[in-house]
Amino acid sequence: MSKERVLTGIRPTGYLHIGNYFGATRNFLRMQDDFDCFVFVADWHSLTTHPDTSELQNGVRRVLAENIACGLDPEKVTLYIQSDVPEIAELYLYLNMLAYKGELEKTTTFKEKVRQHPDNVNAGLLTYPVLQAADIVIHRAGKVPVGKDQEQHLEMARNFAQRFNFRYGNGDIILPEPQAFSYDGGDLVKILSLNGEGKMSKSENEMNTLYLADDDEMIRKKIMKSKTDQGPETENSIKPDYIENLFTLMKLVSTADTVAYFEEKYNQSSAGNCVIRYGDMKKQLAEDMIAFIAPIRQKANEMLQNKEYLATVMKAGRDKARASASETLRVVRRAIGVTYY
Ligand code: TRP
Repeated sequence: MSKERVLTGIRPTGYLHIGNYFGATRNFLRMQDDFDCFVFVADWHSLTTHPDTSELQNGVRRVLAENIACGLDPEKVTLYIQSDVPEIAELYLYLNMLAYKGELEKTTTFKEKVRQHPDNVNAGLLTYPVLQAADIVIHRAGKVPVGKDQEQHLEMARNFAQRFNFRYGNGDIILPEPQAFSYDGGDLVKILSLNGEGKMSKSENEMNTLYLADDDEMIRKKIMKSKTDQGPETENSIKPDYIENLFTLMKLVSTADTVAYFEEKYNQSSAGNCVIRYGDMKKQLAEDMIAFIAPIRQKANEMLQNKEYLATVMKAGRDKARASASETLRVVRRAIGVTYY
């Protein structure tokens, strides 16, 4: 039996951080063995908010290199660039006729982006969810791993697919409705920024986010100045969220023994004084984080030096993606009736 198809897109803006790694990338790595995976770089989507393309080429190569360095295998996964597959744009056009202005204007991400970029409320921004739907249904992917912020887009993709089938399917399901996918009931690890204010970010709060591109010294510096306090006042205290966050990070990159050691210190007191020394904990965390990030960073940097290799990966991905996309488009065109000879 053929494997079920899973698809996801990554925007090429900003740097991958460890919140992305443990939230999303790690799941892709698992999926590539279990499913027929399609992963692409959403460069068209980035144009909706980043009209200046001077950083686009670097951004696209970096996303590819970092994901491959993390373990995404271009031999297993169909890994491609969105703009290499023009079939997506044609399907986007057809779906646009089935998307209503009112529902697009009500989309949460649209409203947010209007607030952020009031001087660039372009039609591409409005129809962002339609392009995303085209990305998904062009390969007739049944599953999409999504975080909370993308659930509404996926629901819209289902609506557009359903409308298409209703209008043009003549009783058949031409475009399957994509479902949200997650492992373990969707309990994703949440990683806060190192100052405890919000999540780590691809493009903001940079000194409190750990990027896969950070060098050893930078990792050390960020962790050593992360937010802590005087320490717990009584034994077995509840941890404030910024302390819990350091433990979360430690659980992800340190050994179980190391975590247990600091948990024990956290829960102990001696003559009314807390035992844990956050400075020691941070030093240990910094070294373990460096051991985790450094090999990924080095691999990614090597790949970024080797444009030929990345080009080979992109072309192979493009060919596989276009084969699947043109097959869908053929059926779509026939269903709509835009076939004249
Ligand atoms: N909108 C997604 C994001 O902001 C990126 C994306 C584009 C995507 N097309 C997609 C994700 C298709 C999943 C499926 O992260």
